[in-house]
Amino acid sequence: MDNIAYAITDSESTEVITNTRNSLNKNKLCFHDLHSTTSKFASDVLQGLDKRPASIPPKYFYDAKGSQLFDAITKLPEYYQSRTEITILQDNADEIAHHVGTGSLLIEPGGGSCAKVHILLEGLKPMAYVPMDISSQHLRLATEELATAFPWLEIHATCTDFTQSMVLPPTAVENTEGTKVAFFPGSSIGNFDPASAVKFLTSIAQLVKPEGYLLIGVDLKKDKNILHAAYNDALGITAQFNLNLLQRINHELDADFDLSGWQHKAIYNEQAGRIEMHLLSLREQQVSIGQSRFAFANGETIHSENSYKYSTREFIKLAQHAGFQSVALWVDADNLFSVHLFRV
Ligand code: AVJ
Repeated sequence: MDNIAYAITDSESTEVITNTRNSLNKNKLCFHDLHSTTSKFASDVLQGLDKRPASIPPKYFYDAKGSQLFDAITKLPEYYQSRTEITILQDNADEIAHHVGTGSLLIEPGGGSCAKVHILLEGLKPMAYVPMDISSQHLRLATEELATAFPWLEIHATCTDFTQSMVLPPTAVENTEGTKVAFFPGSSIGNFDPASAVKFLTSIAQLVKPEGYLLIGVDLKKDKNILHAAYNDALGITAQFNLNLLQRINHELDADFDLSGWQHKAIYNEQAGRIEMHLLSLREQQVSIGQSRFAFANGETIHSENSYKYSTREFIKLAQHAGFQSVALWVDADNLFSVHLFRV
């Protein structure tokens, strides 16, 4: 990495990373650290494990190991979501660009691996790209790669918990008067229950108004066997991803979860229209986390994730409650996944 120079600017938490190989110095990658989540991690875990049924927010899956495991999930044959969404975006990139236009400020909450945005970049030619992610290491690696692949692109990598605050780094806002476009792929919206999803989309509407867009990927309701397989893959990567949460708690919060006493469980709750992931206690056991102790019965679970599925009609209605109006909608030939374009 000797062609990349790091410099700390006067704003204490912002680094400007300039690729000096480019003589015009146009290749700019800035790193903004807006939030530190470690203290919140401890209190959220202790609070969640005090409840019955116990639960832990799914955003804590994504430490460095968890982000890696999630990337592995997206390549599994059973996990149709990622490849289907990528095909939809590729097939319709021109049409998306036609609707949105060029020169926008492209914002991606949760865009830690920058895996899908490259499909849009040539068509959209955004003024700047602002990926926001909770995992700083993951965000750094991915944006350094992206900066190399797209030397013309201004990138403001922002380390933040976007479920807590939706604030743009000031320099990113100063640098563009263009339309704001929020890109929220991967059906990440499925982690919110419907009421919280409306709240979250409302905060995106606030961010991109007065005339901005939201391009969002949403997993569709479908045959529950397909859904079950996607969250119970044959290689057990999803199980590792789920169990890594306990490993992370052990490492970061001085805990002693015995991983052999816990099992991955994922079921489709048809009534609620959601996949539920749980960590199932295989015996009666006690766990220490720092000074706290928790008892779990045999068969007791820690609820670790919800992943809501929506029909296209259901989701358009939900987005309307957040102040969005449907501009376009794309679905693959097998009706597995949807990509919506909304306007404030
Ligand atoms: C990133 C939340 C969309 O719900 O499908 C994948 C996470 N969990 N396998 C999803 C996940 C288990 C994923 N989201």
